Amino acid sequence: MKRVFSGVKPTGHLTLGNYLGALRQWAEVDQHRADSLFCVVDLHALTVDHDPARVRRLSRQAATLLLASGLDPDLCTVFVQSHVDEHARLSYLLECVATDGEMRRMIQYKEKAARERERGGSVRLSLLTYPVLMAADILAYGTHEVPVGDDQAQHVELARDLAGRFNQRYGHTFVVPKATLPAVAARVMNLQEPASKMGKSDDFGPGIVYLLDEPEVVRRKMMRAVTDSGREVVYDRAGRPGVANLLEILAACTGGDPAAMSAGYGSYGALKKDAAEAVVAVLEPLQARHRELCADPGYVERVLRDGAEKARGMARPVVDRAYRAIGLLPPLTEAAADAQSGITAEAVTASAAEAALNAAR
Ligand code: AMP
Ligand code: TRP
Repeated sequence: MKRVFSGVKPTGHLTLGNYLGALRQWAEVDQHRADSLFCVVDLHALTVDHDPARVRRLSRQAATLLLASGLDPDLCTVFVQSHVDEHARLSYLLECVATDGEMRRMIQYKEKAARERERGGSVRLSLLTYPVLMAADILAYGTHEVPVGDDQAQHVELARDLAGRFNQRYGHTFVVPKATLPAVAARVMNLQEPASKMGKSDDFGPGIVYLLDEPEVVRRKMMRAVTDSGREVVYDRAGRPGVANLLEILAACTGGDPAAMSAGYGSYGALKKDAAEAVVAVLEPLQARHRELCADPGYVERVLRDGAEKARGMARPVVDRAYRAIGLLPPLTEAAADAQSGITAEAVTASAAEAALNAAR
């Protein structure tokens, strides 16, 4: 069976972009067809200025929203990244395979680092190395497919490169993964700033629909979406990004095709209204389920505890294999040390012989 892995970082409240670009695909498709793991990648939330209490709160909330979106712990594994040490263990090995040039070419790093410097802040080293940790998340599970939004495609490509390079240098160790993107809404744009992605923590708050926004708030944000100067409703991502975004949101929520749907609209107002109602209809059951889950926090904790245990069991052998392959000595328990002393003595003799040879030269 195919192995699927994906994650979401607890850096802000989850958005409609997260849902349409990733979570919905995980719940509706991936968990039913593959052996899947979905992870709240909390270590990734430490790459930018953060408040510890907020990260804890958002991690719990993200896990609850994953379940509210329809992830079923009987079908897939839901867990928190920092509960499984193998991610950080493997990340270091992959840092020894990646190059600094490769890291500096990552678009997200360039954008976020530039923004941080503009604000006069400093850039954490972990922001630069973050895609390596993401590669470790993926490779530790022998992942075949990584369902993500379009903004993560470059990072998954890096994971592919690192897996291939590691295998070539040190022997076959990792499955080489690939990204799978949703057909529609792979990049939901900010409603107020349709040139930029709807991100959890960007500067255009009124243009972000959060999964827990009240229906009235969703309607208001959708009705105030920035459109374009034309009049007819046409699907043209480059020329009419605001309208194209609304068509994509509508299509993604109702299962249609954005270009075909444009023909049904004579005005921007009617399109906004239908798109708003479609979003409300998608979010309502999710919010109801979220309320139920919040009433039973013990359940979410049990899911995360069991999930981490299962995930550890899967990642451990893969990461141990990588440690051996790259040249690290296996940990020596007393019994194993006795059993291995022959090998160790041999190795010592061999290196003494080599040293003598070198001295003689
Ligand atoms: P993040 O919020 O960056 O942790 O993203 C979690 C998942 O949601 C990733 O697969 C992203 O690609 C996806 N995602 C985030 N924002 C958007 C968006 N605006 N449109 C589509 N997918 C998104
Ligand atoms: N970097 C991803 C994002 O910002 C989150 C992430 C971390 C992830 N590790 C992952 C996604 C592994 C898929 C697989 O959205």
